[in-house]
Amino acid sequence: MMTTFINPEMTLRPIDSSGADDDALLEMWNASADYDPLTPDLWQEFVYQDPDFAPQHTLVVFAGTQPIAFVMGVVRSSGIGYIKMMLVSKTYRRQKVGKMLLLRMETALSALGARTIRVGEAPPAYFIPGIDPRYTSAIAFFQKNGYEKFSEGYHMHCDLLAEDWKTDEAEALLEKQGLTTRRATSSDFEPVMAFLEQNFKPWQFEVAASFRKNPIAVHLGLRNGQLLGFAAYDGTHTGLPWFGPMGTDPTERKLGIGAVLLRRCLRDQKDHGHTFSVIPWVGPYTFYAQHASAEISRIFWRFQKTISLLS
Ligand SMILES: CC(C)(COP(=O)(O)OP(=O)(O)OC[C@H]1O[C@@H](n2cnc3c(N)ncnc32)[C@H](O)[C@@H]1OP(=O)(O)O)[C@@H](O)C(=O)NCCC(=O)NCCS
Repeated sequence: MMTTFINPEMTLRPIDSSGADDDALLEMWNASADYDPLTPDLWQEFVYQDPDFAPQHTLVVFAGTQPIAFVMGVVRSSGIGYIKMMLVSKTYRRQKVGKMLLLRMETALSALGARTIRVGEAPPAYFIPGIDPRYTSAIAFFQKNGYEKFSEGYHMHCDLLAEDWKTDEAEALLEKQGLTTRRATSSDFEPVMAFLEQNFKPWQFEVAASFRKNPIAVHLGLRNGQLLGFAAYDGTHTGLPWFGPMGTDPTERKLGIGAVLLRRCLRDQKDHGHTFSVIPWVGPYTFYAQHASAEISRIFWRFQKTISLLS
């Protein structure tokens, strides 16, 4: 494993993918990432289980043997590069450790062909949809380094204890229109993937993960066996009550399918013992406010930078 000497006190090397760095890294992460604490399961999911995980793009800075900074970058099939996770320990900030890591990562992602680099995000295996502006130092840091805010992302919070999430009456109304809803079975996997391929390709990864849950964490809306819509939950963000994604065929919207599928998923999550659900990275927040009394709970600023060929 290549170790680089940064200064007399600090070294940098790729993460040890045997897991030897993980406990100390997780401790560092949780001491300095105030709004995004991670469990060991979430760490595994976001780092090692990322489909594009590569140790050479997952770098750790050490002061002696103590990890003090971490960055993970990926380039997705879209060609967009992402600084998926980045953190400098609070006691080591404003010493240019962040700048050094960012430059290295930008150079590495550029070498993989990325011309646009975004912060956070990295769908489909995403951690957060951007920077929570409460990390004011991170907002200042990325702006200083040439990144511009281009959009926002929102998480919503749904109080599962607020109601029973029954759908009987709404399903009876759907049936009058020849529409049915039910939990997916394993034989629905291929048709659902084909439906997503046509209408919602970026969500195949998350929905496939929901199919691996027991019971399958996907509900479907159909007319005469033909798939019109889906809603899934708990596919990613291990251990957190994570709703979505969901989608209805663009030509079949406003019929009430989505609302029933949403409530079926929320009912499952409540039955599994959760008291709330996170509806992440929305999307149509008025829909979730209306049908699940959900409220915006987190705001993320999306930042990107266009880079020319770096070497
Ligand atoms: C963003 C972060 C990685 C920067 O690390 P760092 O090692 O402090 O970065 P550098 O020392 O290279 O650069 C810091 C620059 O950011 C800006 N900055 C940081 N904090 C600031 C503050 N409180 N006020 C104004 N500017 C600030 C300044 O431009 C500063 O440069 P300066 O010290 O010369 O004025 C670090 O703040 C961090 O870990 N934040 C929380 C994690 C996070 O939100 N990550 C992003 C999403 S994955």
